[in-house]
Amino acid sequence: MTNPNPLLDEADRERVAPPCVLVVFGASGDLAARKLLPALARLASRHALPSSFSVVGVARSELSDDEFRDRARKAAPDAGPAWEELCGSFRFVAGEYDHPDTFARLHEALDTLDRERGTGANRVHYLATPPSTFGEVVEALGANDLNRPATGGQFARVVIEKPYGRDLDSARELDRRVHAVFDESQIYRIDHYLGKETVQNLLALRFANAIFEPIWNRRYVDHVQITVAEALGVEHRGSFYEQAGALRDIVQNHVMQVLSLTLMEPPATMDAQGIRDEKVKALRAVEILDPLDVGTETVRAQYDAGWVEGEPAAGYRSEDGVDPESRTETFVALRLDVDNWRWAGVPVYIRTGKRLPKRVTEVAMQFNAVPHLPFLARQARGLGPNALVLRIQPDEGITLRFGAKVPGQSFAVRTVSMDFLYGAAFAEETAEAYERLLLDAFIGDPTLFIRSDEVDQAWRICDPILGAWQQDESPLARYAAGTWGPKDADRLLERDGRHWRNP
Ligand code: BG6
Repeated sequence: MTNPNPLLDEADRERVAPPCVLVVFGASGDLAARKLLPALARLASRHALPSSFSVVGVARSELSDDEFRDRARKAAPDAGPAWEELCGSFRFVAGEYDHPDTFARLHEALDTLDRERGTGANRVHYLATPPSTFGEVVEALGANDLNRPATGGQFARVVIEKPYGRDLDSARELDRRVHAVFDESQIYRIDHYLGKETVQNLLALRFANAIFEPIWNRRYVDHVQITVAEALGVEHRGSFYEQAGALRDIVQNHVMQVLSLTLMEPPATMDAQGIRDEKVKALRAVEILDPLDVGTETVRAQYDAGWVEGEPAAGYRSEDGVDPESRTETFVALRLDVDNWRWAGVPVYIRTGKRLPKRVTEVAMQFNAVPHLPFLARQARGLGPNALVLRIQPDEGITLRFGAKVPGQSFAVRTVSMDFLYGAAFAEETAEAYERLLLDAFIGDPTLFIRSDEVDQAWRICDPILGAWQQDESPLARYAAGTWGPKDADRLLERDGRHWRNP
């Protein structure tokens, strides 16, 4: 579509939302305030939302239109006049998600916006409600004819937050209910990791460079390490986290997405189908753990009190909303093997946890040792294997670790780092993950959303682990907040003659 705004360059000009209304279910909640509204505000301030765009918030809380508008302004107080103006058009509908009255009022609000703002009878519904309500809200959308655009419109889409199901069966059941109402092409399953620039950069690094792809395989790579570490605890989400745990909260979605982009084959086309086809193929090649091996190939643990970044931190069991006897894991480490031509024999080690020493997400490709070291042992004491580390956050960038001579009269080699830092190399501002993904959903580009078969494959990998853990009543391993998890996590690699990187 055309946009006369001179502030936009050619590429940005194409990326402007078409006329539509974003309907946010769960609009009074945490996700809307922390992520969705600030992302919309950034889009508005860079002129990616036209005046023919608006938002209707739906939630159980009794808010007036004005109260919702105030909340929206407060969520992004410095966003400027374009956001101020846009907020003035927002509507709020209070009511139960399964009540016809709620939907009658929603229809009324949508019709008014179509008339007054020219929102074109197009809708994007965003499910920011508790996961247990996803099926019910989607069915209500269908029952109230909101699964298609209103007369004269072009699209109705639904964006569904994670977690998508809590195991393979419930994910399939949810998918069945969602597919009864929406066609797959209308469904946008969100994983905010896919909106991160550095996650997308995996594709650029791998497929825009001649030097990496030839070594991206079992002949050169010894193993892969994926770390998603958080310094934060469960904050105020204790009761949610009790039902989730680290495997469901991070591994099934964020880690599986990063893993599939790391391991996939070059796509035939760089579009939604091409990329998602290859991601699914990569996930299908991941070997499913035999329940009898879960005990040796995975480690789960929970944090006790400790110190994180210089501050005292309470133990998980004394966090708000957490059962004092809880067996929910806040840390997972595991080894996965991949049965395909490219990766056979290359283990992928994954670790994630809350209350680790710092926040860091990275993918490290650890390369084979040289076939022969022509140095004395003491000369090579400081030498480690080559590694290419993709730092997803913070300090977004790429590090290459290689051996170099230590300056001086004697001959010694030590591993050094060559760093590429996103912030230093590009002047362009990095879009926040939600900003990128919301605009994609408005425009109708599903490339960075998860297809039904991807969710299925990711659960297929996690399900046997959850099942085996449920059967296992032995005490959970423990770690002090502010450490890199329990000793067992180190042993997982040591028994293979490897060790975790110090990120
Ligand atoms: C969410 C999890 O999906 O991702 C949270 O539910 C976690 O528990 C968060 O803290 C991490 O996201 P980010 O972008 O801070 O790495």
